Amino acid sequence: MKTFLDKCCDECWHSLEKPCSQFVTCCTEGPLCHHNSECQEKFISLNKQLTFKEHDLPVIFIGMGTCGLASGAKKVEEAIVNELKRLNINARIVATGCIGYCAKEVIVDIKLPGQDRISYCEIVPKIVPKLIQRTIVEKGVFKEKLLGTHGKSTPEVPNINEDPFFKHQLKVVLENCGIIDPVSIDAYLSVGGFKGFDKVLRLMKPEGVVKEVLASGLRGRGGGGFPTGKKWELALKNKSDVKYIICNADEGDPGAFMDRSVLESDPYRIIEGMLIAAYAIEATNGYIYCRAEYPLAIERLENSIKECRKYGLLGKNILGSNFSFDLKVKKGAGAFVCGEETALIASIEGKRGMPKPRPPYPANSGLWGKPTIINNVETFANVPAVIARGSGWFSSIGTQSSKGTKVFALSGKIKNSGLVEVPMGVTLEDVVFKIGGGIPNNKLFKAVQIGGPSGGCLPDSVIKTQVDYESLKTVGAMMGSGGFVVMDEDTCMVDIARFFLSFIQNESCGKCVPCREGTKRMLEIIERIPRSYKNTKDKLDQLQRFKGVVHLQRLADVIKDTSLCGLGQTAPNPVLSGLRYFKEEYEAHLYDRKCPAGVCKELLTFTIDNSICSGCGLCLKKCPNEAIAGEKGQAHYIIQDKCIQCGMCFESCRFKAIEIN
Ligand SMILES: Cc1cc2nc3c(=O)[nH]c(=O)nc-3n(C[C@H](O)[C@H](O)[C@H](O)COP(=O)(O)O)c2cc1C
Ligand code: SF4
Ligand code: SF4
Repeated sequence: MKTFLDKCCDECWHSLEKPCSQFVTCCTEGPLCHHNSECQEKFISLNKQLTFKEHDLPVIFIGMGTCGLASGAKKVEEAIVNELKRLNINARIVATGCIGYCAKEVIVDIKLPGQDRISYCEIVPKIVPKLIQRTIVEKGVFKEKLLGTHGKSTPEVPNINEDPFFKHQLKVVLENCGIIDPVSIDAYLSVGGFKGFDKVLRLMKPEGVVKEVLASGLRGRGGGGFPTGKKWELALKNKSDVKYIICNADEGDPGAFMDRSVLESDPYRIIEGMLIAAYAIEATNGYIYCRAEYPLAIERLENSIKECRKYGLLGKNILGSNFSFDLKVKKGAGAFVCGEETALIASIEGKRGMPKPRPPYPANSGLWGKPTIINNVETFANVPAVIARGSGWFSSIGTQSSKGTKVFALSGKIKNSGLVEVPMGVTLEDVVFKIGGGIPNNKLFKAVQIGGPSGGCLPDSVIKTQVDYESLKTVGAMMGSGGFVVMDEDTCMVDIARFFLSFIQNESCGKCVPCREGTKRMLEIIERIPRSYKNTKDKLDQLQRFKGVVHLQRLADVIKDTSLCGLGQTAPNPVLSGLRYFKEEYEAHLYDRKCPAGVCKELLTFTIDNSICSGCGLCLKKCPNEAIAGEKGQAHYIIQDKCIQCGMCFESCRFKAIEIN
C-alpha cells in the first residue's frame, strides 16, 4: 500500500462507485470491514511512513510557503539536491508550508531513521554542504543553525517549543502548518485529517453540528466576530433546493498574511471545515474566493479539490452518505472591497464587486438569491478541531466572550516576525515582547497597529490590553482579520494615518457619497498636516489645514454613521485612534511645524554642524538643488530656502556632520 486509496486486499471494497462509509476511520485504524492481521499491518505501516514514524532514508523537510520561497527556499532545495547527488546519498525531500517563524526562513528539518526531527533555520545555499555533512553524514547536530527538535528535549538539542517564539503559542489552526506535506491528502489523513467530517457524516444530524458549533463559542475570524453557529443556524432553517458555502480567502488587509499561509500549508483543513459547514446547513455547492495574487494558495487548493474528488470526499454521495457537495476556486482580482460579503457574492456572480445593503443577509438570500454562508479561512480551519475534539475542549480556551485562539501576522519593527497563534486573552505585550522578542536596534516601542484599515494604533499605555473582540474595541481598535504591525519610535503617526486613509480612499467602491467623498476630504486634511508651505506660500491652503482639523471629528462621525458597508464605516478608525493616543504628535506637526519621528520630510530642517564638518565637499556635490555652499576645507552650510529635504547630504556625509531637526 502506497496510498490510502490502494486496496489492502481483495476484500477491501472502497471505490468511487461503491464508497465505504468507514473510509476515513479505516485509513487510521483499518481495516474495519474484515479481520486480517496482514491487512492491519499494511495500514499501520502506511500510517507510520506517512507520519515519518518509520522510514529507511533520511528525510529533509524544507519550508516552501511563500515566505520560505521569498527567502530563497528554491535555491536551498537545489543546493541540497546537488549536495546529496555529490555525496551519493539517497534521501527524501518533502516541501512543507510555513511553520510561522518567517524571520528565520529558510527553515530545513532533518530526520534520520529512528531519530527525532530537528529544525534548522536561516539556511542559505552556501552552508548546505556543512548542514548535510554534519547531520546526515556524521549523524550529528548542526549547532550553528539549530532551532530545536520536534522530539524529546536534551541539553544539546532543546525542543522547538522551548524557543520563546513558540513557547507562548497554542497551535490549533496552525497545528499542521510547516509540519505536513500540504500537497498530500494521505499526509492530512495520517494526522487525523477528515476525522471531524467523518464524525458529522456518520454520527450527527445537521442540527447537532450547528448546536456543537454554537456551544463552542466559535466566532468569525474575518473581522466582525459574529458567532459562527448562529449564522449556520439561520441558513439551516431556510429550506432551499440549493445552498452555498463560501470561503472568504480575499485577505485584503495590508499587513495580513495568515489566511494565505494556512491555505498554502494545510489546504485540506479548509476543505474539511467547508464540508462540515456544508453538511450542517445542507449546502450543495461551495466556492473558495481567493485573490489571484495568491498563486501558490490557488494551486494547492485546486490540487486538494482534485484529490478529494479522487478519494470520494467531494462530489456526489460522499462516502455513501447521500450527502453531495462540490467545490470550486474563484479567483478574485484583489480589490479590498471584494472581501465584504455582499460584494464578494456579486463578484462570484460575475458582476462588479460592490456591497449591497443588508438585510437580506446572505444566510437568507445570498449567491444567486440562495441561502449562503460566508466564513473566513481561519474560521473554517477551526471547525474540524471543534468537531473532532468537542465544543467543551474548544470553549475551555480563551476568555468569557472570545473562545479559542487567534492567528496574527506579526510584522513591522519586531525581531521575530511571522505567524503566531495565541489563546484569546493573552495581552498585546505578550505578543510584542514575549513572542515577538521586542523591538530591534534598541529602539523604543511606539504602537501596534491591529485590525488593518478598520483598526487602530495602540500605544504603550494600553499594551496590557487582552487580545479579545471586546477588549480591543474598548481601546479603539478591532480584532480585524489578524494584521499585527509593530511600530517603533521612528514611525510617524500622522504618516501612518495618511497611509491607511489613502489605501481606503483608493479602495472605496464609490457607491456611497460619505465614503467616496468623505474619505477623500479626510485624506486631504491629513495630507495638509505635514506640509511646510515654505516654498508654495499658499495661504488659503494653510488656512484650510486648520479648518480641516477642526472638522475632522465631525467628518469622521458622518462617514462612520452613513456609509453603506464596513469599509466606509470603519475608514476613520486609524485617524481617530491616532488623535486619541498621539494628539501631541499631531499638535507638534500643526503648531510647531515639526515631525518628532523625523519622517515628514517637508517639516525637517537639515543643518551642518560646523564643528564637525571637514569641508570635504561631498554633500555639496550630492545635493540635487545646489542648496549647499562652502569653500573646500572649510565648514559648509545649507541655504534653507533652497533645501528640498531630500536627505542626500545626510546619507553622503561620512563625518555625521549633517543634523536633522
Ligand atoms: C471592506 C471589507 C473587507 C473585508 N475583507 C475580508 C476578507 O478579506 N476576508 C474575510 O474573511 N472577511 C472580510 N471581511 C468581512 C466579511 O464581510 C465577512 O464578515 C466575513 O467573511 C465573515 O466571515 P466570518 O464570520 O468567518 O468572519 C471584509 C469586510 C469588509 C467590510
Ligand atoms: S462604504 Fe465605501 S466601499 Fe462601502 S459601499 Fe459605500 S462607497 Fe462602497
Ligand atoms: S537635504 Fe537635499 S536639498 Fe537639502 S541640503 Fe541636503 S542634499 Fe541639499
